Amino acid sequence: MANIAVIYKSIYGTTKQYAEWIAEELSASLLEASNVKPAQLMDYDVVIYGGGLYAGGIAGAKLVSKNPCKSLVVFTVGLATPEITDYTDIITKSFTSEYRNKIKVFHLQGGMDYGQLSMIHKAMMAFKKKEVEKTPLSERTNDDLLLLETYGGKCVFTDRETIKPLVDYVRAV
Ligand SMILES: Cc1cc2nc3c(=O)[nH]c(=O)nc-3n(C[C@H](O)[C@H](O)[C@H](O)COP(=O)(O)O)c2cc1C
Repeated sequence: MANIAVIYKSIYGTTKQYAEWIAEELSASLLEASNVKPAQLMDYDVVIYGGGLYAGGIAGAKLVSKNPCKSLVVFTVGLATPEITDYTDIITKSFTSEYRNKIKVFHLQGGMDYGQLSMIHKAMMAFKKKEVEKTPLSERTNDDLLLLETYGGKCVFTDRETIKPLVDYVRAV
């Protein structure tokens, strides 16, 4: 059996929830990113890194984009609907082209609870909402519509079933 680590960075818990499910399925070690030293990454045959999406970046991804792993699988968790979202910019921004050829990336849907957001995150979302409202109706993206629909409330899209492609991929590595 391969020695697998699931390392995650989560602010509001949705990425942590996915990381727990994945670690359970794969009998992997579960580690919070801030407790991991870069040199530890090479202790594992496969590192699965999960980070929440914040303003088009993957939380904490520098841990695995700047330090070597034997084999790296990445998953992102965002509000956006994975099936209809283009993640090219996010991945290009987070990983060099050399890295991008070596890693496998999966995208999962998290959620949002405005009641839990920090002041700064509330302000960022309010700013984003104003921007969307200024965008002509015909130019609004699916993400824009989702933001307006869910703004101010609580939505939970975490779904254990959606980890299956990642789990199957890692089992086959
Ligand atoms: C300030 C802020 C910025 C966000 N930016 C994005 C984004 O760029 N793309 C996206 O899909 N979701 C975005 N989200 C939604 C989060 O990715 C989503 O809530 C996710 O489930 C958070 O993961 P966590 O619970 O592990 O922290 C943002 C949320 C906040 C509060």
